[in-house]
Amino acid sequence: MTSVPSRPARPSGRVNVCLGERSYSIHIGPGAADSLKLTDYVHGKRLLIVTNETVGPLYLDAIGRWFPGVEVDSVVLPDGERYKNLEGLDIIFSHLLKGGHDRKTTLVALGGGVIGDMTGFAAASYQRGVPFIQIPTSLLAQVDSSVGGKTGVNHTLGKNMIGAFYQPRVVIVDTDTLDTLPEREFRAGLAEIIKYGLIADLRFFDWLEAHLDDILQRDEEALTYAIQRSCQIKAEIVAADETEQGRRAILNFGHTFGHAIETFLHYRQWVHGEAISAGMLMALRLSVTGGTISPAEVNRIKSVFERCGLPTQPPAHMEADDFKRLMLRDKKALDGQMRLVTLQSLGNARVDTQFGETHLNAVLSEACGDSPSLNVAP
Ligand code: NAD
Ligand code: GLY
Repeated sequence: MTSVPSRPARPSGRVNVCLGERSYSIHIGPGAADSLKLTDYVHGKRLLIVTNETVGPLYLDAIGRWFPGVEVDSVVLPDGERYKNLEGLDIIFSHLLKGGHDRKTTLVALGGGVIGDMTGFAAASYQRGVPFIQIPTSLLAQVDSSVGGKTGVNHTLGKNMIGAFYQPRVVIVDTDTLDTLPEREFRAGLAEIIKYGLIADLRFFDWLEAHLDDILQRDEEALTYAIQRSCQIKAEIVAADETEQGRRAILNFGHTFGHAIETFLHYRQWVHGEAISAGMLMALRLSVTGGTISPAEVNRIKSVFERCGLPTQPPAHMEADDFKRLMLRDKKALDGQMRLVTLQSLGNARVDTQFGETHLNAVLSEACGDSPSLNVAP
């Protein structure tokens, strides 16, 4: 008898986010939902899938079939960070109310970080809280925004200024959805993956540097591992400090600079991952002025960002004063004092209030082209 060759196993991973009664699992890999009974995570008999006009046509029907026996409703939002605001949220609430959804309805976020953050906040506040499920479809959402329970919307005066901590019931990272993700968005997601290596795991950064070509070619195995390790690092940090009283803030490495860029650009032109990529380089330069990171190390990291096609400088027309004005509005600023994340060494971040204004000014002036470089190739 001839044996039938078995199909090679496709990679899969699972990460648990340990938060007591709010604990949940992240299931990762191609076809990650295939072996799961997702209806177990649905509270009542109805659910509302929130998606956008790009992701909806690609995946809405297929995801609806993941929930047999449940009445599936959907709402399709316009696509873009500029719609991540209270008006966008109102579309979700109006749909829920007009459709007679009650407190037993479960919300499902199907899309990138914008949809995930908005749906999570809608779930946190609709009738004082209904359950929700994250099905992230962008690389950035799969490694970052779908995990950890930060939800919310932007205000014209600042990014993510209105929101809540609210954890999902389960996160399904089906890496097959990355097949349709545009290259620019894919590369933006890599910025957050690189971040995890820099802030918490030098060996992971070394691995990323060595396997970057496989990842850029979207190799299934390399990608599943990179997503799993990223989620593990985030899950550990979130489990230790769910509401960001301290250590969780290191996840915002480069973000205070990056959010200033996004706000300055009115959430247009640059995508989030690009803004925080330039922001991380600025935070690294601040670490150089603090004497904890060498210019050679910054150049090593910069070349990884360059291989990913990510920006390493802020927008050309942004000035040091724009940064200062916008950075003071950051949520991490407390009592008017700016708190920035710097590296103590590669793979080891800290929240820093002692970075020194002179050093910050030097970094901003250099990045905005007003002064000579701090020994880091421009
Ligand atoms: P996004 O949600 O705008 O998605 C990027 C683009 O890719 C969009 O056009 C989207 O429609 C499209 N897209 C998504 N998946 C696709 C797919 N599979 N195929 C084709 N197109 C697809 O942006 P993002 O980068 O995913 O997320 C950025 C947002 O996440 C920001 O608002 C940021 O503030 C937020 N964020 C939140 C957290 C958190 O902890 N909550 C962390 C990081 C970022
Ligand atoms: N993205 C930062 C955090 O989740 O804390």
